[in-house]
Amino acid sequence: MRALCWEGVDQLAVRQVPDPELRNAHDMIVRVRRSATCGADLPLLAGRVPGLAAGDVLGHEFLGEVAEVGPAVRRHRVGDRVVVCATVACGHCWYCRQGLHSCCDNGAAPGTVGEAAWGQPTGGCYGRPRTTGGFAGSHAEYVRVPYADVGAFTVPDPVSDDRAVFASDAAPAGWMGAELGAVRPGDVVAVWGAGAVGQLTAQAATALGADRVIVIDRYPERLRMAERHTGAETLHYEHTDVPAELRERSGGRGPDVCVEAVGVADGGGRPASLADRFTGRGGPAEDPLAVREAVHACRKGGTVFVSGTFTGFVDAFPLGAVMNKGLTLRSARQHGQRWIPMLLDRMARDELRTEHLATHRFDLDQGPAGYALFRDRADGCVRTVFTPHG
Ligand SMILES: NC(=O)c1ccc[n+]([C@@H]2O[C@H](COP(=O)([O-])OP(=O)(O)OC[C@H]3O[C@@H](n4cnc5c(N)ncnc54)[C@H](O)[C@@H]3O)[C@@H](O)[C@H]2O)c1
Ligand SMILES: [Zn+2]
Ligand SMILES: [Zn+2]
Repeated sequence: MRALCWEGVDQLAVRQVPDPELRNAHDMIVRVRRSATCGADLPLLAGRVPGLAAGDVLGHEFLGEVAEVGPAVRRHRVGDRVVVCATVACGHCWYCRQGLHSCCDNGAAPGTVGEAAWGQPTGGCYGRPRTTGGFAGSHAEYVRVPYADVGAFTVPDPVSDDRAVFASDAAPAGWMGAELGAVRPGDVVAVWGAGAVGQLTAQAATALGADRVIVIDRYPERLRMAERHTGAETLHYEHTDVPAELRERSGGRGPDVCVEAVGVADGGGRPASLADRFTGRGGPAEDPLAVREAVHACRKGGTVFVSGTFTGFVDAFPLGAVMNKGLTLRSARQHGQRWIPMLLDRMARDELRTEHLATHRFDLDQGPAGYALFRDRADGCVRTVFTPHG
C-alpha cells in the first residue's frame, strides 16, 4: 500500500510499504477515508523528537471503514464507518479503568525510551516514535488498529467524515483542556493557540459554561475563524501585552483557567543537536513560551492546563509563580476513549461543528506539499486532510 513516510529532517515521501496485518485477536484493519495533520507532527517533521526513524509512517487522526476484524472484536463489523482515537489503550488496565487512557500500561511496551525518559511507560499513539508504542501512522491506505473495541467508535450516520475525523484527537484534546482544566460556569478562560486544538478548547469551555473565552495567536485568519465558530474573543499576541489585557478582561484578577494549546510547533525547522537527542531533550526549541505566559497571566489559585506536546525537558520553568500563586498545573495526552462517544453525540446533534477546521484536502500522493502548507500555516491552513482513496 501507499503511505506517507518521514525520511529525515523536513523530508517526507510517499512510499510503497507492506499492507498491515492482524497481529492479535483484538486487532482490526481500517481502510482510511480521512487522515489529518496535527501540530504534534511538526516537531516530528523537524527531527526534534528522539526515536523517529526514516521510513516511519506519520499520522494519528483518522477515520475510515473497517476492512478486516480479528476474532475477538465484538463491536465492529466489516464496512462500519469508524473514527479511531489517536491514543492507543488497552481498556482494562488500572489506568484505563480510571479513564486515564493515555497513561495505559499496555499502550507502549515496557523497556522503551518512554519508560526511561518519563519513569513509566505510557499509552500508545499512532504515527509517533517508539516512546509511544511505534504504531504505524494513518497517512496510509490502511492502518492496523489494536484494541479495536476500545479505540474505534462507529460514526453516527448524519455526521460527515470531515466533521467526525476531529473526534480522533483535536476534539477530545480540546474537551480535556476545558474539563480537566476545571472550567466552571461563569469562568474567564484564556486559550493560547488558535489551531484546531485551541479552537476546540474554546468551544468546550463555552459548552462547560465559561462566561468569557479569550483565544490568543498571531495568525489573523485563525483568530477570525475562532471568533466566527467558537464565539470567543481574540488577542493578537504580537500587538498586545497579553497578561495585561487578560487582567483587564477578567475583573483585574486574570483568567480562572488558562489552557496552553501551542507546544513547540513554532520553533522552525531546526533539528535537535546530537547533545539534545542524547540527553533526551526534544531539541533546542522545546521552549515553553506560552506555558510561561499562561502561568504569569493566570489568577491566583487558578488552573493552568498544558495541552501542547512536550517530550523532553524545558528550561526556565516558573515554578516559583506556580507555588506562590497557588496554581494547579495539569497536563495530559488526551484520554479520548472517555469523551469520543459524547463528542460524536454532540456532532450528530449539530452542537459541535468541526468541518471548517479541515481547510485543505489532498490526495496522499501530495503528502509532502500538504504538510508544507500546514507547517507554514500558508493559505489559511488549519488542518490538511488526506484522502488516501481519492
Ligand atoms: N494533549 C493532547 O492530547 C494533544 C492532542 C493534539 C494536539 N496536541 C498538541 O496541542 C498543540 C496544538 O495543536 P494544533 O494541532 O492546534 O497545533 P497548530 O500547530 O495547528 O497550532 C498551534 C498554534 O499556536 C500558535 N502559537 C505559537 N506560539 C504561540 C504563543 N506564544 N502564544 C499563542 N499562540 C501561539 C501558533 O501560531 C499556532 O496557530 C500542539 O502542541 C499539539 O502537539 C496535544
Ligand atoms: Zn493530533
Ligand atoms: Zn490500559
